[in-house]
Amino acid sequence: MTVDRTKRTCLAVILAAGESTRMKSAQSKVLHPVANRPMIAHVVEALAKAGISDIALVLGRDADKVEAAAKNAAVQSSVHLQTERLGTAHAVLAARNAIAKGYDDVLVVFGDTPLITEAPLIAAREGLAAGADVVVIGFRTADPTGYGRLLVENSELLAIREHKDASEAERAITYCNGGLMAIDGRKALGLIDRIGNNNAKGEYYLTDIVEVVRADGGRAIAVEAPEEELTGCNTRAELAVIERLWQRRRRHQMMIDGVSMIAPETVFLSFDTQIARDVTIEPNVVFGPGVTIEGGALIHSFSHIEGAFISADAEIGPYARLRPGAKLGEGSKVGNFTEVKKADVGPGAKINHLSYIGDAFIGAHTNVGAGTITCNYDGINKHITRIGADAFIGSNTSLVAPVTVGNGAYIASGSVITTDVPDDAIAFGRARQENKEGRAVLIRERNQAIKDAKKKVAT
Ligand code: UD1
Ligand code: CA
Repeated sequence: MTVDRTKRTCLAVILAAGESTRMKSAQSKVLHPVANRPMIAHVVEALAKAGISDIALVLGRDADKVEAAAKNAAVQSSVHLQTERLGTAHAVLAARNAIAKGYDDVLVVFGDTPLITEAPLIAAREGLAAGADVVVIGFRTADPTGYGRLLVENSELLAIREHKDASEAERAITYCNGGLMAIDGRKALGLIDRIGNNNAKGEYYLTDIVEVVRADGGRAIAVEAPEEELTGCNTRAELAVIERLWQRRRRHQMMIDGVSMIAPETVFLSFDTQIARDVTIEPNVVFGPGVTIEGGALIHSFSHIEGAFISADAEIGPYARLRPGAKLGEGSKVGNFTEVKKADVGPGAKINHLSYIGDAFIGAHTNVGAGTITCNYDGINKHITRIGADAFIGSNTSLVAPVTVGNGAYIASGSVITTDVPDDAIAFGRARQENKEGRAVLIRERNQAIKDAKKKVAT
């Protein structure tokens, strides 16, 4: 049977009221970043992609910050504080008001499983649409220690047994509860209200909902998801594992979508990194947030890129640093040990070596020589440097902003440019060179005489 899931209303309850004790952190666990974005935002995005727009956040510490981190234009969320931490069923009931509004589906997810994708969430809701009352998202694992075990018979889920409460035989089961489940929205509160805390931990286990619903003659089933998606984060070591898995998954997707990576395991992406087809990324490149790269660009090794737009066929690095507001035009080049910040680099322009270009506009096909520095900061304010098209900035030029260099202008090497340079002019901003004929010979002879005199004194 196929049922149109999209016609059913859904509330997602995100449990994130944990103390995060094992993170040993001053902030809530779900605020810790994966791919430069708080963990909770990844969970919200998966929900949004699953077509869910109503979210109830069950929070404890740092509630304001977590609420802000969970903001997503595609969803509206309400906040519910769980002040005592009495178990996952108790946590869901903190969102009682939201659930009581009446939804077809209630989806319970954890704030600390940021690798979840929309597919299992959709599958769980489809289980409800097909007539189940509770659909648990399970996974198979080689090491089930600590997880609730799924007791399944003839595709019916009979119960979830928490590790601490499981018998030897039940502990041998490798099909586990991922912790995420979909519940018939009209029955959810009635079922959860009946869950008790008579178990090894003395907690109200949401997992007991399976036996409660079956006692009513209702149906519970499990749907399987990849283990990776249900990886939870309790410690910083697990956070690092999650980061590694996230990076591997995203790099793989990018390569499938047409991006070349020579050593993908050394490329680090952000949650929002956008890279078009036929871009090549060499080994050891790090992307901070806010980067877009158009087709055909080439990113050489050891570059660090953040908040930058790189147009088609541009070339970066090796060892380039692009900071927020760097905009590189088509076919432009930013070479080794060059830093670009808040600057427009025109099409075909080149800044190939050892430069700092900040708060600047550089015209098309302009060549910026090695060691050129925009002196953009006077200690109080930032000032703009404007360089026209087809200009040539000699090596080791200091451009003291605010300053403008015209189209086609030349700047002599080693200049300190403090006033504007008109179009097509040449500017010399340095002391004039003077040659003294034969003077080197005199100096050499004098130095030799001094050395000889010292030797004599010593012997
Ligand atoms: C839970 C499941 C277990 C499953 C495992 C998967 C229960 C009883 N057990 O166990 O079957 O295999 O997840 O990772 O559900 N939370 C609150 N308030 C509370 C208690 C928990 O907000 O009072 C939140 C936690 O912050 C966390 C989530 O709920 O995000 C899960 O709680 P946790 O105590 O970690 O459950 P597990 O023992 O891991
Ligand atoms: Ca857990």
